[in-house]
Amino acid sequence: MTKTRDSLIDAARDAASRAYAPYSGFYVGAALLLKNGDVVTGANVENASYGLTLCAETAAVAKIANEGWIGELAEIAIVGGRPDGEALIGSDPVNPCGRCRQILNEAAERSKTDLLVHCASGDGRAVTTYRLSELLPAAFGPKDLGLID
Ligand code: THU
Repeated sequence: MTKTRDSLIDAARDAASRAYAPYSGFYVGAALLLKNGDVVTGANVENASYGLTLCAETAAVAKIANEGWIGELAEIAIVGGRPDGEALIGSDPVNPCGRCRQILNEAAERSKTDLLVHCASGDGRAVTTYRLSELLPAAFGPKDLGLID
């Protein structure tokens, strides 16, 4: 277990505690590690019109894009589970949804990295790590529009 991975998972769990998820009751947190070592987090934001929900990863990528850091992404940790008092519980790692994989790909291509994606359970104990290219093979991205090499 690397320090980076574990501290990112801790940050994602902390972010998940600030999810707005009154409909599903499923709290997701994402922690983005930037190339300079900074960590930016996001959590899911649900809506009474269910389909308008924003995922944690999307919220976090929007934050870095709005700061001008979309090309600064190094790594991500994602945690999902159900709150039990102050704690987040759940023993299975949570994988990013398809839309989030595409949104992460935008930042990953701009950052020129095959993103490391740590998928963790609510309790933070079970972790599976992927490269984004495993989760979204043959991705469409800015390179296909000739915007980057
Ligand atoms: N969710 C995320 O935040 N990220 C994902 O990648 C998967 C799903 C959220 C959306 C919704 O608020 C809740 O999890 C249940 O689907």
